[in-house]
Amino acid sequence: MSNVSRGSGITIFSWEGLSAKPGNGHPAEATIRYQMAEYQPYDDKTQLARKIDRYPLSFTRNPSAPLISRPLTLSERTGPSGLIGELGAVNKLDLSRAKADGPRAVGQLISVFGRVMDEDGSPIPNAVVELWQANSGGRYIHEMDRTDTPIDPNFTGEGRLVTGPEGEYQFFSVKPGAYPVLESGWWWRPPHIHFSILGPSWMTRYVTQIFFPGEPLNETDLLLNAVPNRDVRERLIFEFDSTSMGAVNSISFKRDFVLRGRRQTPALH
Ligand SMILES: [Fe+2]
Repeated sequence: MSNVSRGSGITIFSWEGLSAKPGNGHPAEATIRYQMAEYQPYDDKTQLARKIDRYPLSFTRNPSAPLISRPLTLSERTGPSGLIGELGAVNKLDLSRAKADGPRAVGQLISVFGRVMDEDGSPIPNAVVELWQANSGGRYIHEMDRTDTPIDPNFTGEGRLVTGPEGEYQFFSVKPGAYPVLESGWWWRPPHIHFSILGPSWMTRYVTQIFFPGEPLNETDLLLNAVPNRDVRERLIFEFDSTSMGAVNSISFKRDFVLRGRRQTPALH
């Protein structure tokens, strides 16, 4: 058995073994390579504060007691397998239309791209990236969205893609609008896109939100500002990349994701 340490977040154990004995329908012994990762606890600097003052749902989303350590199970370190086959692999996505040949949704067309990688910068291919966002007026198609902003019939605000060989992803969409958190009485969420990312095992799955640069509401958002360190908070904000004009008129934003370790992108539910 050999092990390779990857930064502070992941240690990979590799060993070779025999998959089957001759007989019982198996013509010969076959040597297969196993790989399994041991994950270190999250670095608290990359995570939200455990308690967020004035956030109505803080007590339901964060543990109030210290976490209990327990060994990881084999399936947590190696699974899930076959997920892409079940979900279907799409490495580019256009959320700006509800149907591929349908009309475009209302709003500013944006192109979002980046890479999913581990702490050393190695690409994570075949990561499953799921997305959801409000429409350009700030409205979700969801029973709990009780704002009076209209739904856009040409926009669903959800999609799923799989990263390519270099961990790359890209999608088109319309820039989401800000929306009020009605029960708070004062809080408006800045424009943001929700990401769920699942890398090589369940231990690399996290959900987060990515914000847009230069938005005034970023300064007062309870969730974004619950990440205590300003430099770490920057990992949750898109970088403006470029504008394009011609066949497609859009504004491009970039965001890379790091799945574990000191450089991890903070989780933000
Ligand atoms: Fe949201």
